[in-house]
Amino acid sequence: MKKISLTGIKPTGKPHIGNYLGAIKPALELTKTHDARYFIADYHALTSVRDKKLMKEQIYGLAATWLASGLDPEKVIFYRQSDIPEVFELTWILSCMTPKGLLNRAHAYKASVDTNTESGIDPDSGIDCGLFNYPILMAADILAFSCHVVPVGQDQKQHLEITRDIAQSFNQTFGKILTLPEPMIQEEVKTIPGIDGRKMSKSYKNEIPLYASPKQLKKRINQIVTDSREVSESKDPDNCNLFSIYSYFAANEAVAEKRKRYLAGGLGYGEMKSELFELIDTFVSEGRARYDELMADRQQIDQVLADGAVKARAIATPLLTRVREAIGMQ
Ligand code: TRP
Repeated sequence: MKKISLTGIKPTGKPHIGNYLGAIKPALELTKTHDARYFIADYHALTSVRDKKLMKEQIYGLAATWLASGLDPEKVIFYRQSDIPEVFELTWILSCMTPKGLLNRAHAYKASVDTNTESGIDPDSGIDCGLFNYPILMAADILAFSCHVVPVGQDQKQHLEITRDIAQSFNQTFGKILTLPEPMIQEEVKTIPGIDGRKMSKSYKNEIPLYASPKQLKKRINQIVTDSREVSESKDPDNCNLFSIYSYFAANEAVAEKRKRYLAGGLGYGEMKSELFELIDTFVSEGRARYDELMADRQQIDQVLADGAVKARAIATPLLTRVREAIGMQ
């Protein structure tokens, strides 16, 4: 029997090529070896997204991106967190098992408190209970589905530890009902540089969008920052983010050939940019067509997520029944 894996993705921005190479692609690889479950962590996004239209747009955009990138809803369970009421009931039950001190030590909350303290203002200023309780909601996401492994980035490791602590304390009191998940920390994927050479990230505004129109894509690639060497001059492939991004998409022989031409001189950055555009444009074209189709017919997305919710609840409902029985609520 395959192990069950589960992971949540927050709808907090338009996915870019760094997200694709670093998160979406490896997650989809995992579906070959695991019984995989993916969900849109929309209620987690509520801690930062406070605009109704934007929230909707980002939820649909995220769902369409995953579906267009190859997620097969027949093979994996794909759902929206907010469609699973059991998760929220479990959140309350678990919060009653969670020492407040455990959450005081959570990185995100602690970082906000530290910033406030350094600025000499009230330590909890501007911090809502959503941020504070975030780890409990995440524990409920995981424990409601009795999964074995949770593939996440290094930054989520502490959340997994908190989840295990909470599950253990529940199990000690009420019997072995909750499955303790193992974290599956994804190797730090080689950092994909953005157009300014820093790590590609929405917060640096240096990203290259994944499913943008060819025109937008071209415009963005033309904005990749290079030095000002002339076409004829020799160039340094190892200190050039244009070259680096190119090497993620081109075949090995093409990369080797470009390296030679960089060193020899005679290759202009303009030529490199139009080749990179052609490469990425070809690479994304099929996914982009599917993405555009889904975004134009959101009922299709609604249907996929509604079907996913039925499958997900078929797992969470019996688990919650056992939990309710164990605590004397049923
Ligand atoms: N906190 C995760 C993140 O920021 C998202 C998330 C929510 C998640 N619930 C989860 C990840 C459950 C794995 C399992 O990336």
